[in-house]
Amino acid sequence: MFEGLFNLHPDAENLENTIKPRKGVIIGAGQVGMACAYSMLIQDCFDELILQDIATEKVEGEVMDLLHGIPFISPTRVQAGSVADVGRDADIVIITAGASQREGETRLDLLHRNVKIFRGLIGDVVKYCPNAILLIVANPVDIMTYVSLKLSGFPSSRVLGSGTVLDTARFRALLANRLDIDPRSVHAYIVGEHGDSEVPVWSTANVAGMKICDGDWSGSPACDLEELNDIFKQVKNAAYEIIKRKGYTSYAIGLAVTEIVKAILRNQNRIFTVSTRVDQMYGLSEDLCISLPSIVNREGVMKVMNLSLAENEEKLLHKSAQTLREYIDQLDL
Ligand code: 2OP
Repeated sequence: MFEGLFNLHPDAENLENTIKPRKGVIIGAGQVGMACAYSMLIQDCFDELILQDIATEKVEGEVMDLLHGIPFISPTRVQAGSVADVGRDADIVIITAGASQREGETRLDLLHRNVKIFRGLIGDVVKYCPNAILLIVANPVDIMTYVSLKLSGFPSSRVLGSGTVLDTARFRALLANRLDIDPRSVHAYIVGEHGDSEVPVWSTANVAGMKICDGDWSGSPACDLEELNDIFKQVKNAAYEIIKRKGYTSYAIGLAVTEIVKAILRNQNRIFTVSTRVDQMYGLSEDLCISLPSIVNREGVMKVMNLSLAENEEKLLHKSAQTLREYIDQLDL
């Protein structure tokens, strides 16, 4: 229809396109999937972004809505589709699909419902995106990461979960608030399960190398132990409290997933507490995926950091691993 507007360059059809577009697929266009999509779009992560969902009308509507905003940002080709069509050979496949957590329900309650959904999804990812990095966001995320690893047969470096990246961000945000400092200057991790058994690593939490827990931090009135425990409780219960009020969580996880994606695409070697398969690390002998500070780059998870934990923290990490393993044992993979 617009042929008269252009003359095709004489060599255009013979040119080998040597620069591959960065392609991402988000499976699941619910609140979390769309927060990821919006955040990745405005931060110019991909050249092509495909949204896949069984609710085809809803995903079409979401794509139309995003598309109309593209003139205000760097262009990304956004489409509704699937890994089996326009999403083929994606670089990163992000899975947010699955049943969502209801009020009062733990993340582990979701397990059986989500494993069933994943059986169908992962088969297609393996078939159509055999070299993709699989980034799992659906809950219970550590277990769904393990399920995806087993179902896909991908190397463990290429299957990671958002894990406790969000909890670590919540921890930093709340500590930063209390200390009145930029959260990027607060260094503290939450490890273990993304859920009720997660572990705060107080022993290494610091600001400019000064430990927070021992009271070395003097830039603000010293935190007392009760206050620190209360901060951790708020971190652990954040999802429950948000879900109670607004029904779901979305913005912070969208931003967290975007940072992980950027670390992969830009080969940043950035440290995140992603969920990954650990093998005989931290004295963990169980075969599972759990969240620990890890180096993320274009390989996916390149290395897991050997954080030196206090004795009680290591015990809590083992307990958290045991919780995950007990659930994994109930699965027929
Ligand atoms: C969150 O922690 C529900 O896992 C989700 O916000």
